[in-house]
Amino acid sequence: MIKKINHIAIVTPDLAAATPFWAEALGLTVAHREHVAEQGVDVAMLPIGESSIELLQPTDMTSGVARFMEKRGPGIHHICLEVEDLDVALDRLKAAAVPLINEEPTIGAGGRRMAFIHPKGTGGVLVELYE
Ligand code: CO
Repeated sequence: MIKKINHIAIVTPDLAAATPFWAEALGLTVAHREHVAEQGVDVAMLPIGESSIELLQPTDMTSGVARFMEKRGPGIHHICLEVEDLDVALDRLKAAAVPLINEEPTIGAGGRRMAFIHPKGTGGVLVELYE
């Protein structure tokens, strides 16, 4: 059901200040930039092999990402697992009584269907499922 780690997301207060480490010092390429209104973030994707680093800057200070950064500071925000079928994955997690932030799929970067699993069900890690 899980295909791969799609990306690891890092939250930063300043995308322009955070990007040079990844792009210039490490030599990765910013392949994609996007504003995701549903999540209240600006996003930059830097592919590494079949996965990516996703840099997130909150643009809406009431968003979940902004509240996360306020509480925990900048750093790793979530890991994203790519699934074959998000509906099947969510049904399976519900059957296992895993707490979900999104009971139903929502729309993320690239217009793709995604849902977050609550960290209290994963040992403290915010996990995104991405179809
Ligand atoms: Co993500």
